[in-house]
Amino acid sequence: MLLKLRYYGDPILRRKTVDVSPEELLSSEFQEFLRDLAETMHAEDGVGLAAPQVGSEKRVCVAADGETVHVLVNPRIRGRSIQLTCDNEGCLSLPGLQAQVARHERVIVQALDPQGHPIEIRAKGLFARVLQHEIDHLEGILYIDRAEPNTLVWLERKGEDEVDRVPVELAEVKRVFARRYHQGKSREELSFDPPSFQQASQIPSSGGGDERRG
Ligand code: NI
Repeated sequence: MLLKLRYYGDPILRRKTVDVSPEELLSSEFQEFLRDLAETMHAEDGVGLAAPQVGSEKRVCVAADGETVHVLVNPRIRGRSIQLTCDNEGCLSLPGLQAQVARHERVIVQALDPQGHPIEIRAKGLFARVLQHEIDHLEGILYIDRAEPNTLVWLERKGEDEVDRVPVELAEVKRVFARRYHQGKSREELSFDPPSFQQASQIPSSGGGDERRG
């Protein structure tokens, strides 16, 4: 069954997920959810998908490494290379956008497989990037939080295989997403900023209104 995608502004994308217990993992409902998550990723033409993106607060994601789709339960990054690489990133929860994001070139991820067995993945390059992006989702972090300044662009189709990259401010993206994906909802029902920013903004301070973190 295909699951419904959640879009930027949906509060679930900004919540930290909770670990899956062994009993829950092995239940038929959860096994079905894991299959649905992978199926939805394929249907949306994604290379990764995290549970909050389909409305679940569980710490699970799927990530594709070429032909292989890894289903990761309770994944955590246990090792990171010092070397970083910068590349374009996009997200199914932020359709039509891209930005440059610096990520660790290599990571070591520990997780459980769908049967509950511990696995360790040593990834590099694009797959390492996908894993960092998806595990960020499980912490309520989106790639735009880590984007290099002034690299956020709309991808606008221009003819058959030509795409224009139009620079955009995050404030404008929030306005567009509120209108496009959350019609009828008040701004208070939406959540655009990362968890730490929301906490910080509740503390009265003279801090500036910069909504983007470096
Ligand atoms: Ni994403």
